[in-house]
Amino acid sequence: MNDLAGKHLVLGLSGGIACYKAAELCRALVKAGATVQVVMSQAAEQFITPVTMQALSGRSVFTSQWDNRPSAGVDNQMPHINLSREADAIVIAPASADFMAKLLHGRADDLLSLMCLARPLERVPLIVAPAMNREMWAHPATQRNVAQLRADGTHVLGVGQGEQACGETGDGRMLEPEELLDEIVSFFSPKPLAGRRVLISAGPTWEALDPVRGLTNRSSGKMGFAIAQAARRAGAEVDLVAGPVALPTPRGVRRVDVSSALDMQAAVQAMAEQADVFVAAAAVADWRPASVAEHKIKKDGSGQVPALQWVENPDILAGVAASERASRGDLFCVGFAAESQDVLAHAQAKRVRKGVPLVVGNLGPETFGRDDNALILVDEHGSTELPRASKGDLARQLVADIARRITLK
Ligand code: CTP
Repeated sequence: MNDLAGKHLVLGLSGGIACYKAAELCRALVKAGATVQVVMSQAAEQFITPVTMQALSGRSVFTSQWDNRPSAGVDNQMPHINLSREADAIVIAPASADFMAKLLHGRADDLLSLMCLARPLERVPLIVAPAMNREMWAHPATQRNVAQLRADGTHVLGVGQGEQACGETGDGRMLEPEELLDEIVSFFSPKPLAGRRVLISAGPTWEALDPVRGLTNRSSGKMGFAIAQAARRAGAEVDLVAGPVALPTPRGVRRVDVSSALDMQAAVQAMAEQADVFVAAAAVADWRPASVAEHKIKKDGSGQVPALQWVENPDILAGVAASERASRGDLFCVGFAAESQDVLAHAQAKRVRKGVPLVVGNLGPETFGRDDNALILVDEHGSTELPRASKGDLARQLVADIARRITLK
């Protein structure tokens, strides 16, 4: 929600049709808590007006180095100096092929390039979101420029793939506004899990009874997906094993979709071999029908209900926690406890029963499907409450806590 609270960004637009996406990006940055100062090149003004960007950022837009209005509160006719000094980062979106070439050569013939060159290198990072036709992107000159810009310390983002405004299809589109937002939030996130691999199970499982019916539960997967996103932002390689949920995959996360508890167990067991952390956020169905009917089970008109036989599903978490790697301390396992009452007592009992160092307790009926939650972390020493907050916020706190625990080990 407030992922960028307290951050001040200069959003620079160079010329390209992707300028229309910069309008939404600006809005998303402001919504995420950032203050945004827009600077536009002359070419950008051909695609979108400063008035639009001014309305969305809530600040006057600067377009010229000759602009003699006070900038960043300083009345010295030097917008290229003032605007960059107060920024936590300069984000160029879209960055055209020409603008990247200019950056590379340290050219400074307009406000945007001048400001990038004049920024204090060591404290104002430059993030660049390329946007261009696929041939321009693939051209050795552009690729050379990208490599050199990176070597110079510029954070050059990737590009999107697909249909382009010119009618061609390929690599080179600017990333979508929400992808850019995610990249920017990630850029500012501490990376305590860099070099670590985190495996997460999320969502419900579906235990089929026949081709149209089954047993499942109300888990939405939101908490598990939020943990995957937070772990990725904290620098981890993330594998997400997801039961049937309708959620987009967090950026940079590898996702495997599964249906039943047995499928989930197979996927988790295979991936746990490489993981440093396993967070079992899935609400695994406790039972499955003893057999799955090939065709839809029909009513026979007698009023009799079918005599269903159930078998217990394997406990995925307890199985992984008992593995050799976990026992050796190479795999840190975290369980969830979704309860309807006595969260603390149940979570403590579950921690011991499952053989895991940490259990995250929550009240199932008060969290399923919602965007917020309240958690209680239970370990061998006691418990810590994480008060009600968005699942994104809680995921970030939980991931930071896990990172501290595995670093202390
Ligand atoms: N879990 C699992 N495999 C199962 C059941 C649960 O891996 N077959 C994991 C969940 O992902 C969660 C933890 O175990 O991390 C606790 O799940 P929960 O449903 O709260 O508890 P249960 O073990 O099912 O116990 P109960 O139904 O008695 O509350």
